Amino acid sequence: MIGYEVLPWLTTALAVCYGLYLTYKTSSCCGKNDKVNRQIDPGNAKVVHSFDIEDLDEKAVFCRCWKSAKFPYCDGSHNKHNETTGDNVGPLIIQKK
Ligand code: FES
Repeated sequence: MIGYEVLPWLTTALAVCYGLYLTYKTSSCCGKNDKVNRQIDPGNAKVVHSFDIEDLDEKAVFCRCWKSAKFPYCDGSHNKHNETTGDNVGPLIIQKK
């Protein structure tokens, strides 16, 4: 029979285990909540775009933050994302010389 004297130890052990669980849960790399793409073509198993370099204009600006309403092109949404999260993402710019 377990007496009341073990209650503080049991509570501490449970708190430590819960803390470790939260640490693992938030630091693991590949959980459902770690998705980068939360809005672009969610029904597709993989979002892929392909361009022929000859079809591009003099300059093309591609989104790398997955927040653009004009994806795969950048619409400047990365600025708001960076302001709210402290992140530093920006577009990929391809220019013809
Ligand atoms: S909107 Fe995504 S990089 Fe600009």
